[in-house]
Amino acid sequence: MERKFPDRVEDLTCLFAEFGQLAAKYKAVDLAIGTPEQDPPQFLKDQLIEAVHTGPHQYHHPRGYPPLRESLAKHYSEYYKVLERDLDPQTEILATAGGVAGLYCSCMALLCEGDEIVSFEPFWPGFINIAKPAGATLKGVPLKMVKDTESKTISWEYDWDLLEETLSESTKMLMLINPQSPGGRVFTEEEIAKISEIIDRKCPNCYVLCDDVYDFLRTFC
Ligand SMILES: Cc1ncc(COP(=O)(O)O)c(C=O)c1O
Repeated sequence: MERKFPDRVEDLTCLFAEFGQLAAKYKAVDLAIGTPEQDPPQFLKDQLIEAVHTGPHQYHHPRGYPPLRESLAKHYSEYYKVLERDLDPQTEILATAGGVAGLYCSCMALLCEGDEIVSFEPFWPGFINIAKPAGATLKGVPLKMVKDTESKTISWEYDWDLLEETLSESTKMLMLINPQSPGGRVFTEEEIAKISEIIDRKCPNCYVLCDDVYDFLRTFC
């Protein structure tokens, strides 16, 4: 009997593995995946070793280790001052095993078959493999090239008209990656306000999923 994988995982590919192999074959520099030159900071390595020795090594609450959630709630309540309230570690913080697991759980919990996700393009390709199993279609809004004839320079801007055109009744989620991956650009306050204005007007029931996985990268620079 021939075994068939479910449609939701058919045709999933890992771009990083594919390009890694091609780079090795053609002796090219592999820019597909970011491989930092430096190790994690010493204090982090020391604390990981200490945790191995001291534990805890048991199952914990399904939402994540309570002291970790309390620390995260405290940190993000101060960090996101705009909230003007404290986050509740019991109901508003969930610890996952990394970014992919967090995105995967969010999409599985929030999306239904046929829903659309909209994201500025280029976006991190790992997201394709998260959208498909959740039954969603991913729609990109490519950056717009703007030429300045006077200074003879070009820049890449967000295309607000195209964002408006792409959002529809089927849009269930706007996926924001900030700082952008792979581009590295950080949204300005004005751009965030613009996105929020467009979403409120065109798709008020749409979720905005923010992947801020690189937010603290500067800590280690
Ligand atoms: C935007 C973005 N989100 C998530 C991830 C993966 O996060 P993690 O390694 O914590 O699962 C990456 C990794 O490249 C990424 O670029």
